[in-house]
Amino acid sequence: YVMGVDLGTSAVKVLLVNENGEVVDQEAKDYPLLQPKAGYSEQEPEQWFTQTILAMKELTKRFDGEITLIEGISFSGQMHGLVLLDQTNTPLRPAILWNDTRTTKQCETIYQKVGKERYIEITKNLALEGFTLPKIIWVKENEPDLFAKATTFLLPKDYLRYRLTKQLAMDYSDAAGTGLLDVAAKDWSAEICATVDIPQSLCPPLVESSEKVGTIIPELAASIGLSSKTKVFAGGADNACGAIGSGILSEGKTFASIGTSGVVLSYEPSGEKDYEGKVHYFNHGEKDAYYAMGVTLSAGHSLSWFRDTFASGLSFEALLADIASVPIGANGLLFTPYLVGERTPHADATIRASFIGMDTTHRLVDFTRAVLEGITFSLQESIEIFREKGKQIDTVYSIGGGAKNPVWLQMQADIFNAKIVRLKSEQGPGMGAAMLAALGCGWFSTLQACADHFLMEADVYEPIPDHVKKYQSLYQLYRQVYQQTKELNQ
Ligand code: XUL
Repeated sequence: YVMGVDLGTSAVKVLLVNENGEVVDQEAKDYPLLQPKAGYSEQEPEQWFTQTILAMKELTKRFDGEITLIEGISFSGQMHGLVLLDQTNTPLRPAILWNDTRTTKQCETIYQKVGKERYIEITKNLALEGFTLPKIIWVKENEPDLFAKATTFLLPKDYLRYRLTKQLAMDYSDAAGTGLLDVAAKDWSAEICATVDIPQSLCPPLVESSEKVGTIIPELAASIGLSSKTKVFAGGADNACGAIGSGILSEGKTFASIGTSGVVLSYEPSGEKDYEGKVHYFNHGEKDAYYAMGVTLSAGHSLSWFRDTFASGLSFEALLADIASVPIGANGLLFTPYLVGERTPHADATIRASFIGMDTTHRLVDFTRAVLEGITFSLQESIEIFREKGKQIDTVYSIGGGAKNPVWLQMQADIFNAKIVRLKSEQGPGMGAAMLAALGCGWFSTLQACADHFLMEADVYEPIPDHVKKYQSLYQLYRQVYQQTKELNQ
């Protein structure tokens, strides 16, 4: 058995996976999001640790077998969050998360100092509010006494792994999201550190995702109910692990993930492709591979916001129950999902969402359909960027909450004009983490061999030509809304 730990934004989920890739047991524990000010989003690293230990303990208590049969553990983690440690490796402040938007000024400073073109050339990405480097600069500028005590920074799952093993490390797939990594060279950028005046000594040692970082420290192993020989592998960014867990391991493979945020991710065999920063370009969890991805900040979040605000008390199933009764185009209602700003294709933290075309005949179900269509149009904008660069996207693996509803899956097929495949295991990142542990333990010689053994298709949705046409004309309207509403929030 292996354990895959997915340290998410709202909860940690621990999977116990057997040698056939079956999830034999799982446990999730949540933790709060701290929002002390508008635009701030933080979490206590200690809570990640205590909740993960709790989940692991419950799993091992239910485990029917020798604990030595659990051979390895690996991790998937929410990306970009800043965990600043002092010289005793104790967090100096709450972690500042990926969806925190306080750092617009620091992003501008990065461009001024490094030069936008040069910055993109090194990191292959824009300097975005969500990324880690602007957060480090924010702490340096706003909490200088605290910053003076910092000796290392980590990302969320790296801190969790540190607590289990006492080893400091960061894998390339997560390091790519810091905005400090020379992504193609796979090394920290001494040039960026020097130019923005951040000591390079803050950057932790870099490792591959399937590399063994250590074993669980004995006192902890005993209390969790695991063997102290359990091998701990580095793991990866949640999107890299999502890619592994849905088999995005060769050119031409793409997934669309609809969770809190929405992601369209496509495999890249090398670090050479140039998207000019229009989409993110990160190191994969597979050694020396890469992926490009576009992000919709409020995907599932748009739907949960909508439900909580206008239909509280309804389950998602009940909310979506009748959406097939509403025609394509939601009877003239159009929604853009910019509730907390946007990343792709508009790197804009200030834009806000819209409902356009409201009519007295519209009912809750029309709005619900419009929200789903708007989220999916937003993901289509990323697919379009990929296709413009010559990428062939004819099959998309759908994962996350958005893969649960058949009407929404058909909508994705029709809007993306691609075949949608849903896998039997919808675990995505947690499964990817377990696969990294399986590879590290030597069960397979490649991730692809593991994917061939672990992952199976559940069902397929083909695009319907008449629907594709209708959505294409609505999509042209959708695309205009950004420019027309941009000024409203400046
Ligand atoms: C990716 C991103 C999010 C987080 C969510 O750039 O910010 O997908 O990884 O956990």
